[in-house]
Amino acid sequence: MQNESRQAHWENIYTQKGESEVSWYQESPALSLELIEQVGATSISAIIDIGGGASRLVDNLVDRSFEDVTVLDLSDAALRAAKDRLGSRAAQVQWVVADATVWEPMKAYDVWHDRAAFHFLTEDRDRVAYVMRLKQGLKVGGHAIIATFALDGPERCSGLPVVRYDPVSLGKTLGMAFQLVDTRRHAHATPWASKQSFQFSVFRHCP
Ligand SMILES: C[S@@+](CC[C@H](N)C(=O)[O-])C[C@H]1O[C@@H](n2cnc3c(N)ncnc32)[C@H](O)[C@@H]1O
Repeated sequence: MQNESRQAHWENIYTQKGESEVSWYQESPALSLELIEQVGATSISAIIDIGGGASRLVDNLVDRSFEDVTVLDLSDAALRAAKDRLGSRAAQVQWVVADATVWEPMKAYDVWHDRAAFHFLTEDRDRVAYVMRLKQGLKVGGHAIIATFALDGPERCSGLPVVRYDPVSLGKTLGMAFQLVDTRRHAHATPWASKQSFQFSVFRHCP
């Protein structure tokens, strides 16, 4: 998919649908928060949510006094929805409208979180571009928490094809610089109560 049509697709989704009208909506990103805590993140850790959309992860991080939080997404409408919800607290967050496969990280983060964005990269060159940015944008010793549909998860989301992973295939895709340190299976309940099988894997950026 071309970058422009990818951007138009997501902008359209977030313009047409309310926060809880999308299959990936979560009232509480509990597993993400648990894993962020588990990797030892503290309030001064730099955290980026890649493809964060209108997710409530950012609200929870601000509530927990994280001081250096960035949310990156292709869709300006998605980030506006999150900002509107946060109100004046939105000023405590860095917001980046960009494609994760072309964005140039301005610094390296301690935690890179991605729930259900990476799995939309169905072409090798996009995955390679993403991993290049992951290497630049994650400190050595930092952690990447990447959640995708699991091998028994859906083949499509939001009308787009996805690549499904298990921790081993995801680790192979990310390459030798990332060591798998934890993995969880997660059954996400959509707002209409169907179940979607996810895997959440945690990788350490090795020297
Ligand atoms: C299924 S939604 C998940 C949103 C959010 N992570 C959550 O858990 O609620 C996928 C998100 O990834 C974003 N996205 C898809 N491809 C992207 C890309 N190449 N770069 C940045 N964001 C992307 C979409 O705009 C959308 O917000």
